[in-house]
Amino acid sequence: MRILLLVHGFNSLSQRLFVELGADGHDVSVEFDVSDPNLEEAVALFEPDVILAPFLKRAIPKSIWSEHLCLIVHPGVIGDRGPSALDWSILENEQSWGVTVLQAEAEMDAGPIWASAAFEMRGAAKSSLYRSELSDAALVAVREALERVTISGAEPRLLDYSDSDVRGQLRPLMVQADRQIDWSRDTTDVVLRKIRSADGVPGVRSRISGVDVFLHDARPARRMSGAPGDVLATSGLAVCLGTVDGAVWIGHLRKPEGEATFKLPAMQVLGADLPDVPEIPLDSDSGYREIAYSEQGPVGTLHFDFYNGAMSTAQCQRLLEAYEATLTRPTKVIVLAGGRDFWSNGIHLNVIEAAEVAAEESWRNINAMDDLAEAIIRTESHLTVAAMGGNSGAGGVFLARACDQLWMREAVIVNPHYKDMGNLYGSEFWTYLLPLHCGAKNANRITQQRLPMGANEARALELADRVISGSQGDFAATVSQQAAAVAEGSDFADRLRSKVQRRQADEQAKPLSAYREEELARMRHNFFGFDTSYHVARYNFVHKICKSRTPVTLAQHRDKSRLQAVRRAS
Ligand code: COA
Repeated sequence: MRILLLVHGFNSLSQRLFVELGADGHDVSVEFDVSDPNLEEAVALFEPDVILAPFLKRAIPKSIWSEHLCLIVHPGVIGDRGPSALDWSILENEQSWGVTVLQAEAEMDAGPIWASAAFEMRGAAKSSLYRSELSDAALVAVREALERVTISGAEPRLLDYSDSDVRGQLRPLMVQADRQIDWSRDTTDVVLRKIRSADGVPGVRSRISGVDVFLHDARPARRMSGAPGDVLATSGLAVCLGTVDGAVWIGHLRKPEGEATFKLPAMQVLGADLPDVPEIPLDSDSGYREIAYSEQGPVGTLHFDFYNGAMSTAQCQRLLEAYEATLTRPTKVIVLAGGRDFWSNGIHLNVIEAAEVAAEESWRNINAMDDLAEAIIRTESHLTVAAMGGNSGAGGVFLARACDQLWMREAVIVNPHYKDMGNLYGSEFWTYLLPLHCGAKNANRITQQRLPMGANEARALELADRVISGSQGDFAATVSQQAAAVAEGSDFADRLRSKVQRRQADEQAKPLSAYREEELARMRHNFFGFDTSYHVARYNFVHKICKSRTPVTLAQHRDKSRLQAVRRAS
């Protein structure tokens, strides 16, 4: 089928559908919802069989839905309508939720239903549920809908609120008043739900130490209590706020106005406004934890759950320290597990944007990433495995490739390219690692195509070594088993020896320092040169400035050479 994805932005769900439907054999192209004439032009150029809208912020124009089959992916159970579906489900503590694929008609979200799928809720932020459980369910429902629309005579189900299985309802846009925290009454559980219902966007507005902020990245604080709403302690970048029955850690904040109205580490936002409170060690049991280490026999696992997968200079340095500590352990295999939502998305663009001199901070950050990647590549005492259970982008993917093995969860989407960030050249030793693991041809394809990629494609291109299916929990269990099998394998000593020998031979042929220097010379141009594309792209990314047109890498219907080839073939 020819499927046109109509999107407000190419978000995680849109990327997942793009990758998976393409792998199913469909011809998929993408158009950003910029204007009615643009959409009409896209439809005329691509002549889709189905228009699929996984992430739209307005209704599809009548000129399009009245002429073409348009399917909307709504993040709610059957009957649910409105723009804050998942927000309400979290706030109201729903135990299960769903995704519905309905046909676009005049009334928003009220069209006939082609498919739906359910999922279990988890105590997590909206964006985390969206990227994981909701995306899995959406894929199931979309596949079912696409199958059904091809069956001659198949009809969608009309929405009828008197049906016993219809539990959704029309809900308004959730506003700040709906989730405002009442610090004098709300329990930890309620505070967490309110913040999580608004995290990633827009955040819950509150006042901390007299400063107006939006709260993000909330986690329960263990063994902490104090006056509700007051700052009780700090831990690294996070602040601890009291609740009526405990406390929460808040890792990130956003100011509603001023220069930096994007998310930053809480301590950076509050700085001088903080009262004198105790400091709890970062990554400790009762503190704010980003990095954790666990050990099972010969396998050491390093978890690093950085918010949004972004890794600032300080975070890279701490992770390097933690990594070096794992090397001193009497284990054989080190698993780098990243975080649940993201393995890594590379340098921390928000922290860079807020720095006094962004170019200088970019430079420090990429050097800190390179130090980490270099330490992994130079490891001679252990075999290393990157276990990628969550998505990854840009330098994060190449950091993972620095490990001897890269195992991906099947549902993971990676974006192994830098160019979309203002033609950034990139570092993390990708010029060494990609040809080494994937060969020159695949390396070229991976970096040039600038498209999201699923785990199976990554495996086919030898970017990944192993694909593991199943949920996040299954993935962690399988990784543990397989890493133990590597460590206990009779060929472990041979594998370690041959890795060290290969590294030594590679070092003879061209030292790692030369790769690093060459890459960083190009990055220096990106950061400090006359061409300011990287700074403009970073500004737009951090400030969430919508794209004014669809990149031709995604809007394949706008690629003239491709169109001509299709026309010649038909
Ligand atoms: N620095 C800071 N924040 C980052 C980030 C980074 N490197 N990468 C992602 N984020 C943030 C996004 O701003 C977004 O924030 P939000 O919570 O306010 O919405 C959140 O992480 C999720 O990212 P989003 O873009 O919505 O996720 P996605 O799954 O749709 O797309 C990527 C994933 C990796 C394609 C996309 O985030 C991206 O291009 N990131 C930049 C990667 C990069 O260029 N890194 C620098 C070079 S190494």
